[in-house]
Amino acid sequence: MKLFLEINPFGKLSNNSLNNIAQMSHRRSSLQPNDLYPREIDIEVCLKTLKIYQKLEGDVNCVVWDASLVLAKYLETMCHQKPDFLSGMKVLELGAGLGVVGLTAATLGAQVTMTDLPEALSLLRLNIAENKAKIGSMGGYAIAESLVWGDNNSEIHKQDFDMVVLADCVYYEEAVEPLLQTLQRLTNAFSQRPVIYLTQEIRDTEMQKKIWDTFYEKITDFFYVEKIPEEQQHCNYRSADIVLLKLIKK
Ligand SMILES: C[S@@+](CC[C@H](N)C(=O)[O-])C[C@H]1O[C@@H](n2cnc3c(N)ncnc32)[C@H](O)[C@@H]1O
Repeated sequence: MKLFLEINPFGKLSNNSLNNIAQMSHRRSSLQPNDLYPREIDIEVCLKTLKIYQKLEGDVNCVVWDASLVLAKYLETMCHQKPDFLSGMKVLELGAGLGVVGLTAATLGAQVTMTDLPEALSLLRLNIAENKAKIGSMGGYAIAESLVWGDNNSEIHKQDFDMVVLADCVYYEEAVEPLLQTLQRLTNAFSQRPVIYLTQEIRDTEMQKKIWDTFYEKITDFFYVEKIPEEQQHCNYRSADIVLLKLIKK
């Protein structure tokens, strides 16, 4: 069941404004303005609206996935209950895609480093540029860097983070082990170990279920795993098909 995923283009900007934004964001970008279409995401708690550019065609990092909305809206719900929940927090996002979770956290006052594969960064940086003023007005900050899961030499590991977030990143078998390595590495290296918030859509193919079961079994070896019940999530952005977990290093 997909509640929020929207894959049809709507609300297209004029070609001129898309052209300008694509050129400003990344001179060597392969982004073509005609391929892009925006999606607006309201952050009710601070009355800001993020504009997220998606691509008409491309890899999995070109659209907003439901699990990212569930996690972004959970962070917003937490900030509603505790206004300084993200203020000044150093947050790292893995597999950020278009950046919905990281940009939401930054708009709620966090200092966010969003990461993904190198080929995903131009569109992610376009979305940072598009929302930079809103983020800055709330005291937040967002940058995008490459982090390939399992790359233990990444400079990212030398930094301290308070929180790690990731949405819909457990979807192919070859990535399970490298992703676990990265999560362990990030939570081993620091005196103050970051808390991890993770959402995952549980898809109904046998292969997807197997991948999730394998991942879940392994995380329970290394982390205390708390399943956040739906009633604690955003009232409109939650789904029985999407799990939200909080992980703390054992
Ligand atoms: C299903 S998408 C989810 C994107 C975004 N978190 C969302 O929910 O909208 C999975 C993301 O993981 C990234 N990814 C896949 N394999 C990766 C790897 N080995 N290292 C880093 N990122 C990876 C993809 O580029 C993509 O952005």
